Order: sequence, then structure tokens, then C-alpha cells
Amino acid sequence: MFMRKVYIIVILLGAVSSTSAQQSGFGVSAMQADIDKRFFSVFPDGENLPTGQGTVIQGAELFEMQCHACHTNPPDELSEYEPEDAADALFGGHGTIGTDGALATIGSYWPYSTTVFNYIRRAMPYTSPMSLTNSEYYAITAYLLHKNGIIEVDEVMNRDTLPNVMMPNRNGFISAYPEVPVKYRTNP
Ligand code: HEC
Repeated sequence: MFMRKVYIIVILLGAVSSTSAQQSGFGVSAMQADIDKRFFSVFPDGENLPTGQGTVIQGAELFEMQCHACHTNPPDELSEYEPEDAADALFGGHGTIGTDGALATIGSYWPYSTTVFNYIRRAMPYTSPMSLTNSEYYAITAYLLHKNGIIEVDEVMNRDTLPNVMMPNRNGFISAYPEVPVKYRTNP
């Protein structure tokens, strides 16, 4: 009985190692240029922001088509909606951080506008991330910022303007690692 269990484990291990060594046989190898075009991170200061641009108006239409199914419109447009999951709420909550009724949204909580762009470009729409153009992601970012009262309706978002947007909670964070005493610093 014991030996039979050992045999089964050995067979399973053999199956795993042999399939991982084989090529799947599907598709074609990704070119480095394709990988570079899609897989990059935008840093808080705007480093790596791509070319392209978008307006609030363009973003409103895109939001309706691509995002509204899962994310509520701003409360003033859909008054009866009560978000059950805070991740659903992309608007409002301003001034609630640090209170008992904190509602953390990109508008009330996130410190960098560039991170909003980076996140939605990489992760949204949830079922088809990275499926929109960079200009479309700029437009949706503009719409989200406008509906959170952060930019004006006629502002255009691109690699130059987006990093200049000051988020309301930009200075609301404190370091989890306050100043390290000199004697413990590895890189003084
Ligand atoms: C199919 C449903 C779905 C669609 C469509 C969708 N989202 Fe999301 N979104 C989610 C879910 C689920 C989360 C929470 C994900 C998590 O916490 O990992 C989320 C989280 C987010 C967040 C982070 C919210 C926060 O405060 O943490 C943003 C911003 C966002 N979505 C924007 C968008 C935008 C913009 C679009 C349209 C381009 C979009 N989403 C389309 C389901 C969706």
C-alpha cells in the first residue's frame, strides 16, 4: 500500500516536469518590441508615460461603454446607487479619510494621478486589461479626475499634463519607516 502511494507520487512528478519542459505548440513567440510596448510601469513622477492624449468628454463616453457595468457613475448621476464594495466606488469620499466613515476612492485617497493611469491601463477593464489605446486610457483618466473635482472639464491629459495634477490626498500619507538613525543607515 505504501509503495503504491510512492509510485503515484513519482508518476505525478514525472508528468509535471515533462510538460513544463515542452513547448505548448500554440501561438508565436512574442517579439521584444511587442513586450516593451505593453509591459511597462508608469512611475509617480510620470516616468514611462506613453504618448497619446485624451479629453474628459471622450473619457465620459468610454467610461459608459467600458467601465459603467461594474463601476457606478458619480453619485449625482445615479443617486440610488449604494456601493457594497468600496473597490466599486471610483468617485467621492473626499474629506472622509481619517474619519470613521472613510471611503477610499481614487479621488479621496490615491496620492498620484499617474498611478491612476498606470493602474487602469494595466488592470481595466477587468475582463480585458490593456485592451484600449493609451489615448483612451488618458481620456478615461481625465474623466475620472474631472468627476472627482480634480481637473476642469476642458483639460487634456497627456504625458506632460498628467504628472502636474495634484491629487487631494497627495500629502496625506506618513512614512511607515520614520527617519532611520544614522548609525543604522546602510546608504547615508
Ligand atoms: C467586469 C467588471 C469591471 C469592469 C468592466 C471594470 N472594472 Fe474596474 N474594478 C473591477 C473590480 C472587481 C475591481 C477591484 C479589483 C481589485 O481590488 O483587485 C476594480 C477596481 C478598479 C479601480 C481601483 C479602485 C480602488 O479605489 O482601488 C479602478 C480605478 C478601476 N477599477 C477603474 C476601472 C475603469 C476606468 C474601467 C473601464 C476602463 C473599469 N474599471 C472597468 C471590476 C471592473
